[in-house]
Amino acid sequence: MQCAMLKAALLSAVALFAAAFAHPQQNGDSLTTGLSLLNGQNLVSAQKIFVLGFFSNGNSTYLGVWYNEMQPRTIVWVANRQNPITGGNGSLTLTSSSLELLDRTGNPVWSNAFQTQNSPQAFLLDSGNLIVNDTVSGNLLWQAFDHPSDTLLPGIRIGYDTSTNDNSFLTSWKNGSDPSLGEYSLRLDPKRLPDVLLFHGSVPKYRMGTWNGQGFSGVPALRATNLLAFNLTVDEDSAYYSYTALDTSILWRFVISPDGLAHRWRSNQSNLWTEYWHLPQDQCDVYAYCGANAACYNGDCKCLSEFTPKSPCDWSQRNFAGGCVRDAVLPCSSGNGFAFLSKVKVPDTLNAIMVHGKGWDDCKNLCLRQCSCSAYTVFQESDCVVWFGDLVDIVQLSEGINDLYTRVSHSNPSHSGRNIAIIVSVSVVVVVLVISALLSFCYRRSQQKHLPLAEAEVFRTKCEDESGSKVAKMLDLGAIKVATNNFSEQNSIVTARSRTIYKGTLPSFGDFAVKRLNAEAGLEKLQNEVKMLARLDHPNIIRMLGSCMQNNEKLICYEYMAGGSLDAVLFAEDESGIPDWPSRFRIMQGICEGLLYLHEHCRIVHRDIAPSNILLSEGSVPKTSDFGLATLLDQGQYEGKADNFRGTPGYSAPELFYGKYSVKSDVYSFGVILLEIVTGCNATSFCREDTDGLPRYVSFTKLMMIIPIPPPPPPLSTLSYLLFPVKVRKQWTQGTADQLKDPRMGDAPRGEVERCIHIGLRCVQDDPTVRPTMSYIRSTLAAIQP
Ligand SMILES: *[C@@H]1O[C@H](CO)[C@@H](O)[C@H](O)[C@H]1NC(C)=O
Ligand SMILES: *[C@@H]1O[C@H](CO)[C@@H](O)[C@H](O)[C@H]1NC(C)=O
Ligand SMILES: *[C@@H]1O[C@H](CO)[C@@H](O)[C@H](O)[C@H]1NC(C)=O
Ligand SMILES: *[C@@H]1O[C@H](CO)[C@@H](O)[C@H](O)[C@H]1NC(C)=O
Repeated sequence: MQCAMLKAALLSAVALFAAAFAHPQQNGDSLTTGLSLLNGQNLVSAQKIFVLGFFSNGNSTYLGVWYNEMQPRTIVWVANRQNPITGGNGSLTLTSSSLELLDRTGNPVWSNAFQTQNSPQAFLLDSGNLIVNDTVSGNLLWQAFDHPSDTLLPGIRIGYDTSTNDNSFLTSWKNGSDPSLGEYSLRLDPKRLPDVLLFHGSVPKYRMGTWNGQGFSGVPALRATNLLAFNLTVDEDSAYYSYTALDTSILWRFVISPDGLAHRWRSNQSNLWTEYWHLPQDQCDVYAYCGANAACYNGDCKCLSEFTPKSPCDWSQRNFAGGCVRDAVLPCSSGNGFAFLSKVKVPDTLNAIMVHGKGWDDCKNLCLRQCSCSAYTVFQESDCVVWFGDLVDIVQLSEGINDLYTRVSHSNPSHSGRNIAIIVSVSVVVVVLVISALLSFCYRRSQQKHLPLAEAEVFRTKCEDESGSKVAKMLDLGAIKVATNNFSEQNSIVTARSRTIYKGTLPSFGDFAVKRLNAEAGLEKLQNEVKMLARLDHPNIIRMLGSCMQNNEKLICYEYMAGGSLDAVLFAEDESGIPDWPSRFRIMQGICEGLLYLHEHCRIVHRDIAPSNILLSEGSVPKTSDFGLATLLDQGQYEGKADNFRGTPGYSAPELFYGKYSVKSDVYSFGVILLEIVTGCNATSFCREDTDGLPRYVSFTKLMMIIPIPPPPPPLSTLSYLLFPVKVRKQWTQGTADQLKDPRMGDAPRGEVERCIHIGLRCVQDDPTVRPTMSYIRSTLAAIQP
């Protein structure tokens, strides 16, 4: 007891002594044996880049390292994260055998012991490292870089060595001001092949992707540049990750924030931090976003070859976590083959091993010999990695160097060549219904070697299709060319902005329609449409037969609609084919049914409902087409945001111009179409009205002078497109149903016409929330004409 008191007294004496003499060395970069650094004093590194000193959060005081010049103060290392100094000023003291942080009473709150014959000395280096070395031999006795906080500075390494039980990793702060240990950590895990993972507690949250010798397979962009070099050192028992800044005029830090994100920051000329990179970048970065045995691409999930969603219904509602299961039990045999995925972040390696010195063929055979082997890949031509059982957290990237082969029941001869496989995976994508006739025709027709159809992307689930048994096929360009006379003029039905629609005919199949997108048209729009249509199955939605992306062609095939598009029918110059009221009413009901299905069964917003996208079958059954902008809403999501306006002016709801959409945007467009059907007026190239004394077709500009601007004013350029509803509403309040209805459609019960106009006007209200839902519209229409 006395002894402890004596020690405390001695230490405070030392501290006081140091305080008295510390001033001259206050701005030095070193601390010599027996001296202390007091609260309020700092060490500053030689080039004045880093500062070591005390900082406080409330009543808690910590010893930390921060940048000298950067604003605001950015702390990169904290000594006593879990043991703050409280109840008065503390000090940092270097003794001949330890570096200690003492509180006011001289009790150590943090200490590091070392052994040396000579007196040690502590230095704050320009790298941000605090080191203790031997003043004579120079041997390193202790360094802060071995105990990182939440920040990886150039030169700090994280990783493990199982032979020495070393494991160093980053741990986030509790919150922005509290440096005690938070919930997130960034570490290399000895149970996996070398990989950097961000954990929430013990649960992986993000994974940079197994190190492939050159980089992390999931972050191909993270390559050595002229700014940074990345270093993963792997040995028998150890793996360490670090990076080096190549341009020393720039400061770098890689930090795990308290909310579990990883950020890489760099300094700029004004001594401010600019974000250079962060994780996650998108949904696919979320660990196991697609569950087991599925690959994530662009925020979407697809099952691996020969797998189907475990719960098709969850899957169609974008709840992918359940993952995929095999279609059928895989018979283990040497006749098994492999499906190919290119540019992947390879699956998590908890259940994988690496075998050195095996190339592609050896690796494949190694996998084939083990019934539980589910996939393989090869890093750097000779490091074979094989997986057993479920494959978790696969991401398909738009660039990347790693390929993955996943086990399937039969080997397909054309799989064996990697080049062919690459072509297949590039020509990726989807298709749903098998047109066996078309395909068998194609097989006979084209002499060139066929792409293995089983490799085409699979979207087996359709809304409410539990069986999931539809096999996806990809259409053949050669066959489509033959069917359309090589896209001849005579076969074109519609030519519009970015696409042409052709009629195709095959003897064994009959007629079908082919949409061919221009070269400039984005691939995403086509992929989106294919993806959407693959989910849908309804008599009032166009049926997709298949798609084809080959030789820069972007094609989708649909069932052929002999009746043409609604606008062509409604606004035809030739009045002989003008539909009468009963068929107009059936068309409205049909469009309504299709939209109801989209909204309520599939949570899809079409976003581009316009009469040119409503096609009529031979018997005038309307079917909605053109799903290029269609968007799936997540479970519970009511509205979405778009970056810029896309849609058909005249039919697009006002909120779309502000980048917002919801199912109610489709309701608006439906309302415009409904009013067009009743009035026979085209919303985009205006008509009549005798009562106004205007010519039958009036330009919008003229109309703008007549009709007051609807509140709230949308952007001027879009204003004219919103006038049709305003005009109809005005005529409705001033005139009668008889004046409004299309004179060309013959007799129509006045009450029915009035009630349809009424529904239409409710749909085209500016405020989306007051527009009716499709199910309400359906029941109202049903009540008009039971
Ligand atoms: C504690 O340190 C601060 C400087 O950070 C100083 O102003 C204050 O006087 C010190 N308190 C005591 C009790 O030494
Ligand atoms: C201890 O480290 C410092 C900083 O790196 C260095 O300047 C000094 O020379 C080292 N001491 C010896 C004896 O090498
Ligand atoms: C890579 O890191 C190891 C320690 O983990 C180090 O010995 C080696 O010098 C580093 N290499 C480069 C090029 O930075
Ligand atoms: C430095 O970064 C800040 C914040 O990111 C930015 O506002 C500023 O314009 C940048 N200055 C220079 C010179 O790049």
